[in-house]
Amino acid sequence: MQYPFITAEEAADFIKNDYVIGIGGFSSVGTPKAVTAALAVKAEAEHAKGNPFQVSVIAGGSTGDQIDGALSRAKAMKYRAGFQSNKDLRTAINNGEVQYSDIHLSHVAQDLRYGFLGHMDVAIIEAADITPEGELVLTTSVGVTPTIAACADKIIVELNAHHPAYIVGMHDLYEPINPPYRREIPVYTPGDRIGSKTLKVDPKKVLGVVKTDLPDSIAAFTKPDPVTTKIGENVANFLISELRKGRIPKEFLPLQSGVGNIANAVLGGLGSCPDIPPFTMFTEVIQNSVIGLMKEGRITFASGSSLTLSDDVLQDVYANYDFFKDKLMLRPQEVSNSPELCRRLGIIAINTALEADIFGNVNSTNVCGSKMMNGIGGSADFSRNAYLSIFTCPSVAKGGVISAIVPMASHIDSSENSVRILATEQGVADLRGKSPLQKAQTIIENCVHPEYKELLWDYLKMAAGHAHTPMTLKKALAMHIAFEETGDMRNTKWD
Ligand code: COA
Repeated sequence: MQYPFITAEEAADFIKNDYVIGIGGFSSVGTPKAVTAALAVKAEAEHAKGNPFQVSVIAGGSTGDQIDGALSRAKAMKYRAGFQSNKDLRTAINNGEVQYSDIHLSHVAQDLRYGFLGHMDVAIIEAADITPEGELVLTTSVGVTPTIAACADKIIVELNAHHPAYIVGMHDLYEPINPPYRREIPVYTPGDRIGSKTLKVDPKKVLGVVKTDLPDSIAAFTKPDPVTTKIGENVANFLISELRKGRIPKEFLPLQSGVGNIANAVLGGLGSCPDIPPFTMFTEVIQNSVIGLMKEGRITFASGSSLTLSDDVLQDVYANYDFFKDKLMLRPQEVSNSPELCRRLGIIAINTALEADIFGNVNSTNVCGSKMMNGIGGSADFSRNAYLSIFTCPSVAKGGVISAIVPMASHIDSSENSVRILATEQGVADLRGKSPLQKAQTIIENCVHPEYKELLWDYLKMAAGHAHTPMTLKKALAMHIAFEETGDMRNTKWD
């Protein structure tokens, strides 16, 4: 099967004002790059002529700068669904230029199939190779690619020579059928293969293939610092004590680890801890630290939806592919993040909070309740269903003017019922089995930065006795208000 080759500009020309575009790939890797960059140029040209030109973009996870960055800078995006983490798109969302629908990542594919996200005009999918039968070998991620290929009217393929064809087999593509006929997803261990290695597409839908040779552009990870290293040690020590108490089986349990610098550092800390046995990962995003730990034999297998690696680490994986090929598997995000699998496999989930309140409610997304950071991602897919759900964060942000622990979270992504353990560099609060008052006491005692302890003890004293959950509505957001008014939460006054 031979699809026609076209240029990125020809592909962009097919896309009309108001189209809904599906983006293949996930977590800023394996996403298309050339067509959306050409689309941004086309949009600017249309705007210069006084013509309206904006599209809606549905992607499973974050995308590269050539999509979220280029389209938002060109004012060519009016709506975005799925996780995002691009600086320019974040600004456009918070300016109200882009309407953003933040969706649990395990839901995106089924929301598309159920028709909840409307009709998709075109899907753009990156491939490492096209088989003689016209099937696509995906690159470094899966996301919602199988679903957009099935839902969209037309498909544009970007064939990216940056990825070798021999990675065929790294992907396991499976879509559950819709209710009422859906069965369990038959994954019983992280490495179980249940689907196809290549993506079957309807050849009649394929508009053409754009040849590229482009690396992904993921933000560089910052090196672990004393704070993230200490958080990693605290989580590792907690897990070791659970292992010794027999509350984690001696074989250990599959681990899920969140996105960002803190998650990368925490995982590195866990992996280097000799008292934790070699483990597997059943996670959403496979970050740099996993690859290092695999080489050391600390991680034996990783299943995820993307290989979100810096290009040097990715090239190392490709150069040593014989070693890695039976240790890595990329799945659609509705499988990698499946609540059913998370519960059944007994995942230990470790995610990062922006802020948490003294009862364990976690805000992962909205700074001061309204300013979108990235999105909920898969954090709540995992936190709600994990065997053990851990949230981590530094106890303070922005040099100490913000306490990450507050009387009431200004937005809630994972409620206190899902959050079992909270860990900062100060220590660990085990919230299992505790009442709201007991949770508040253990969080203030163990996780709060010394500069904020007295403030939060005073709040608790003031609020205690107000029924089941100690809180006073008049004061619950006073620390946020002090930050907005004076730039420093330490200026909070309770009277
Ligand atoms: N209030 C305001 N800003 C805060 C804050 C708070 N309480 N806590 C952190 N920040 C700021 C930091 O100062 C930093 O700002 P900068 O970029 O200007 O330096 C930024 O938020 C990111 O924090 P950082 O410490 O670098 O953390 P990170 O890279 O580990 O990201 C999250 C943390 C929460 C933003 C990130 O993990 C996320 O998007 N999570 C939601 C999705 C998710 O959990 N997915 C995983 C499922 S697999």
